[in-house]
Order: sequence, then C-alpha cells, then structure tokens
Amino acid sequence: MQLLDGKKTAKSILNTLKIDVAQRATTGKKVPHLAAILVGTNGASQTYISSKVKTCHDIGFRSTLIHFEEDVSELKLLEKIEDLNEDMAVDGILVQLPLPAHIPEKKVIEAIAPSKDVDGFHPENIGRMILGEEDAFIPATPYGIMLLLEHNRVATKGKHAVIIGRSNIVGRPMSILLSNNSYPGNCTVTLCHSKTENIKEICLQADIIVAALGIPGFLKEDMVKNGAVVIDVGITRIEDESKKSGYSISGDVDFENVAPKCSYITPVPGGVGPMTIAALMKNTYKACVDRN
Ligand code: GUN
Repeated sequence: MQLLDGKKTAKSILNTLKIDVAQRATTGKKVPHLAAILVGTNGASQTYISSKVKTCHDIGFRSTLIHFEEDVSELKLLEKIEDLNEDMAVDGILVQLPLPAHIPEKKVIEAIAPSKDVDGFHPENIGRMILGEEDAFIPATPYGIMLLLEHNRVATKGKHAVIIGRSNIVGRPMSILLSNNSYPGNCTVTLCHSKTENIKEICLQADIIVAALGIPGFLKEDMVKNGAVVIDVGITRIEDESKKSGYSISGDVDFENVAPKCSYITPVPGGVGPMTIAALMKNTYKACVDRN
C-alpha cells in the first residue's frame, strides 16, 4: 500500500508556481491576483477561504478577500462580482459555496466572467470541459485529483473507475475527466449515487474508487477489491473534544480497514484537500497568463 500524499504533491506544484511567478515579476509582468468572496460565517468556509488566501501569499500571488454579512442582498453580491469582472487588476474570482438560502447559487456562478471563473463552475467552462477543450477551467477538486494521479504516475488507461457521489463540484466533473481520451483518463467510468442499487457489488469491480458522497467512513473493506486505488474526497467535521479546534476531520473511507487492501490510497487530511488548493492556484495562474 502506498499513500498518495497530497500535501507533498501540492507542495511541489506550488513550488513550481512560485518560481514561475517570481520569474514573471522579474520581467515586469503582472503577478496573478485572486479575488475571493465569503458570505456569512460558516466555519468550514472561513477555514477554506483563509487557506486559499494564505496560499496566494505564500507563492507570491496577490489576493483580495471580500467578506459580506450573512444577510447581504443578492443585488449587492452581483454588483460586486460585476465590479470584479471589469477590474483589470483581478485575474480570478471565486465565491465560496454554500451561499445563504436567500441567494441563488446558479445566478451568482453565472455572473462571474468565464475568463475569470477559476473555480470552473460557470456553464461555459463546464461545457468546454465536457468537450475536452484545453482552455477550460476545471473545477479545483477534480482537477486536483487528476494532478495527484498524474504526479504519482498512477495507471488509469482501461481501468474501471467507480465514482460515488454526483455533485456538480466533484462527482460529475470527475466522471468526465476520468473518461477523457488522455492521461490520467481513458477509464471506463461508473457514477454511483444515493439511488444506486448494489453499490457494494459495483465497488468490488472497481480498479479506482473516488468516494465523494460526504458520509464519514462509508467505504468499507468489504466493498474494495485487492490492489484498488482509493481516493477519499470526504471532509466532514466531527466533534472531538481532544482537539484544540473542537473537531476532527473524517473522510468517506474507513481508512484503517480499507488501506491494507489498496495499491494507493489518499489520507484525510493531507490527501485531496491540499490538491484542491494547488489546482485553484494553477487555474488562477492560467487566468493571469491568458489575460496578460
Ligand atoms: N465549496 C466546497 N468546495 C468548493 C470549491 O471548490 N469552491 C468554492 N468556491 N466553494 C466550495
């Protein structure tokens, strides 16, 4: 069993970006600038967004954090996005999800200029991704998983990949990317969800499993065949008084019992999480290079 170390892989990707940015700066070119919008006080969202902003700082990107109160109006948020769309100094825009119930996510996502949509959630980028166009922004988590497979030279051609979870942010884009006619793709893909029958039997046929359903410890050892590659996207917060923060993070995989059967497995934390941020930074860098 080999750990797919997302922390280490992300570090190497971020180091390369840092060098590329420094080189741009010495030749007088613009450095990437990410604008991140947070609405409300959701603890997990606050953690994610500060980690994105901190990473920008660490690798020499500019960043602007815009924080709105929970009760901000839809109009005010859309006006801010419009300002950022027109601001020549800004390369990438992200709005941390989920949003409060009174703001329609679809409208907010569609307000972001596709050329600055570094989360890759805009229908134009989703469409380009499905068509396999190279200039599409790929949603950060699936893109991070593809980079993790690539950097660790995990074989994917002809393999049966089973994805559990059909979210627009992870499961569905993951199913498209793994079926692409390029490395790391060329998989035969099965997309499972809450209505799937015989999920255990399907998982047992998988060479690669991506667990992205948000149920802690869902994937058990009797659902995994020997030698499988297991990617755990789960990041559920579980109350834990022994931790300073008051919680620990649980993945969708029963790691302790599943790991011994795997050829490769991602840990939680330190697997997919850091890769998501590295992928977002790659998208932001690309947005900057494309525009300048
Ligand atoms: N919420 C959960 N994942 C994501 C993500 O990748 N981007 C944004 N903006 N919000 C999220």
